Amino acid sequence: MSYESREQAAGVTLEGINLYFGKLHVLKNISLSIEPGEFFAFLGPSGCGKTTLLRLIAGFERAQAGKVYIGKKDVTDLPPWKRNVGMVFQNYALWPHMTVRKNVSFGLEEKKVPREEIEKRVNSVLELVDLLELADRRPSQLSGGQQQRVALARTLVVQPRVLLLDEPLSNLDAKLRVQMRRELRELQQKLSLTTIFVTHDQEEANTTADRIAVINRGIIQQIGSPMELYDQPKNLFVANFLGVANIIKGEIIKDGNMFKFVGDDVVISIRGENTPEPGPCSAVFRPQNLVIRKDTFEEKPSSITFTGKVIHREFLGNIIRYSVRAGSHVLSVDKPHLREEKPLEIGHLVTLQLKSDQIVFLKD
Ligand SMILES: Nc1ncnc2c1ncn2[C@@H]1O[C@H](COP(=O)(O)OP(=O)(O)OP(=O)(O)O)[C@@H](O)[C@H]1O
Ligand SMILES: [Mg+2]
Repeated sequence: MSYESREQAAGVTLEGINLYFGKLHVLKNISLSIEPGEFFAFLGPSGCGKTTLLRLIAGFERAQAGKVYIGKKDVTDLPPWKRNVGMVFQNYALWPHMTVRKNVSFGLEEKKVPREEIEKRVNSVLELVDLLELADRRPSQLSGGQQQRVALARTLVVQPRVLLLDEPLSNLDAKLRVQMRRELRELQQKLSLTTIFVTHDQEEANTTADRIAVINRGIIQQIGSPMELYDQPKNLFVANFLGVANIIKGEIIKDGNMFKFVGDDVVISIRGENTPEPGPCSAVFRPQNLVIRKDTFEEKPSSITFTGKVIHREFLGNIIRYSVRAGSHVLSVDKPHLREEKPLEIGHLVTLQLKSDQIVFLKD
């Protein structure tokens, strides 16, 4: 394969970015550093500023304060065409009257690249995304996934140093999305191309990205690997955004030399080094960390026990997710689904057990 980008991979650094649309403060003091060759995701709810941040890196938006670097170069004042980044837009923006080949070669023709070189590069990139056989079709004669690959090929052919993808999979059906995100990850690995991927879908971010920045209301909440964010969320927003979280509100109280968490019907002694300061606090734990039984458990000092009643049940294939009312709390509990095991029914009285070291205490 002659497609080359390894030498070109460049990191991206943002320093103190503040961007306003009129009075609306859309990006608030954003600083982050993306490594060369890294697959990085911006994850957050609708309207939090993901597209704006991506457009800022591409050069389509200007911030009122802050700097953008690509590699070591300060590109803050450079227009998009001088930044050497490629952006795939959410709606692909393919030219309907042009063939696949023409859609891909157009950018190089505009740049007056010699004809033989265009042909070589276009063939190589079409082969890369497995579209050579469809090169003479028009976009309307392609499936959604194939159109997505044309948009990608058209961006890759100009050999950008950074690839920017704005929700590239959101037009595809669920099955194709899963297939395409895997292909995207494989392609990115093959090319070692610095890639920034915008999504509001945590599963998509988890399965593709090396690291994720979780964004809410224009503020970066936390940056980390998918597992770090899931296991050690820094705040309740991150805990809730990455999967289902059980949250019990309460207070940390100093008890002699020890600390304990006191919530409604729950007291948890806190061991370990990361004890939060006394004051209001939430105890957070995941549904799969609760063990559910119809009979009672033997009490263990390292565990917390709840008793309650099943009020709801969802069958998700590999797991069954129960909602259990325990005192004033409604807790989500995941249990692997096994064919030979009878599920619990609504109304069943149950006991839940949770190891205290599975709990994260968060201050907001
Ligand atoms: N050109 C613009 N002028 C004024 N406000 C804008 C403009 N573009 C975006 N906004 C506002 O800025 C905020 C961030 O928008 P942005 O498109 O970056 O969100 P997003 O995170 O990409 O959301 P989504 O997931 O829905 O695509 C929103 O409140 C939006 O209404
Ligand atoms: Mg967007």
